[in-house]
Amino acid sequence: MGKLFVKKPLSLLLAEASENEKGLKRTLGAGSLIALGIGAIIGAGLFVRTAAAAGQHAGPAVVFSFIIAAIGCALAGLCYAEFASMIPIAGSAYTYSYATMGEFVAWIIGWDLVLEYALGAATVAIGWSQYLNKLLGKVFGFTIPYEWVHSPFEKSDAGVHGIMNLPAIFILLMLTILLIRGIEGSAIVNNIIVITKVAIVILLIILGWHFINPANHTPFMIPADAGTVTMHNGTVINYSDFWFHGIPGVLRGAGVVFFAFIGFDAVSTAAQETKNPKKNMPIGILVSLAVCTLLYILFSFVLTGIAPYQDFLKEGGEASVAYAIDKYMIGYSWLSTFVTIAILAGFSSVILVMLLGQTRVFYSMSNDGLIPKVFSKLHPKYRTPYRSQAMFFIFVSLFAAFVPDSVVGDMTSIGTLFAFVLVCIGVMVMRKTNPEQPRAFKTPWVPVVPVVGVLFCVTMIVSLGWENWSRLIVWLLIGFVVYFGYSIKNSKARKL
Ligand code: ALA
Repeated sequence: MGKLFVKKPLSLLLAEASENEKGLKRTLGAGSLIALGIGAIIGAGLFVRTAAAAGQHAGPAVVFSFIIAAIGCALAGLCYAEFASMIPIAGSAYTYSYATMGEFVAWIIGWDLVLEYALGAATVAIGWSQYLNKLLGKVFGFTIPYEWVHSPFEKSDAGVHGIMNLPAIFILLMLTILLIRGIEGSAIVNNIIVITKVAIVILLIILGWHFINPANHTPFMIPADAGTVTMHNGTVINYSDFWFHGIPGVLRGAGVVFFAFIGFDAVSTAAQETKNPKKNMPIGILVSLAVCTLLYILFSFVLTGIAPYQDFLKEGGEASVAYAIDKYMIGYSWLSTFVTIAILAGFSSVILVMLLGQTRVFYSMSNDGLIPKVFSKLHPKYRTPYRSQAMFFIFVSLFAAFVPDSVVGDMTSIGTLFAFVLVCIGVMVMRKTNPEQPRAFKTPWVPVVPVVGVLFCVTMIVSLGWENWSRLIVWLLIGFVVYFGYSIKNSKARKL
């Protein structure tokens, strides 16, 4: 039992970091990292989940939801940055916690990060398929039939049941192939996409501003007496329920749109591929987070000003941004086509970083002996964990094809929030256990920042409701079976 909390020595972690010859290539600079961060951050959270949170929980006050989620992320981000600057090797929160809180906690985080990266990729792939169908309809006048772009748990207004989401599988396959061929090429493609994505968000804010109808912003928060609405997929929303109006609605909205911030921590998973990680890591994490927060606040204000929030429960529930432009920004049809294309590219870059982050976490866990070796096997030519990438393609595709985006989206949020809580605690533990270790970046005002970070993240976890808590618990229980069945026998740290 004592070994349950065995720690991976920092000296060993750092030695591994400098041993590059055999491992991943070091090619990324600060600029690429910021691009990687923004590439991972702006995606389905903004272009899909904003409308869902506004329609179901927060109304125009989804703007406040973004602020709450941003505060939680910024605080956790400051903790991440200290870790990332101190332990510049692949593995994200997993690696950090191995050195601070021991193997068992590290395992929980590493396992939990699958929710963030793999299910995050699935969620965005589903959003991608919604916008693809919108584009096909606009440009070619035909759409993929409902049953082939929806999970079996969804039903159209006309009573058609979904079967599987084919376009989601398609995009996952394309990106997996790209990743197997190497991160260097992936980073260049990513940079181009990031520029387009940011440009489109700014353009939408500027052009959309003139179409804000003040009536849509009044009242700003959903009132308790807003009645009931039947959604496009048959679900009935009763606004008088606790998490569906007023301040609780804003908090629940924060849990939902929190998804939009996920990804800045993915930057830290690329630490082993970063030049001068001590300096570039914190810059990459914090700058990308700051840029996105500003854009989100403005964007959500504009979107909820253009369309009444109830629209997002009906026809506007899918490809919501394209819907709002087409319906309310008369004369801007070109913009909606342009935005949709940019969104498709933008979502691709998010999925790319998620799939990358996922395999890199498992790469570290596999190197540590906690999961089988196949996850750290590198391609002889491309030096990427190709087998792992291929296996995750299958795993992620199953979720993307057969589960609705709201379910995988909230599971992604709760899994990530949980990891953030552990990282905030970790930074405090590390200050006690390794006070002398040099830190290129120090989290300010410890313990205030991590403690408040924990409070914000726990509030969002609570708001996500018991269904999501139970999904998280089930996932962790499966993890315990793997841990006690495999990892404790193969862990390298236990044999030191
Ligand atoms: N933050 C990423 C997105 O919104 C996961 O798509």
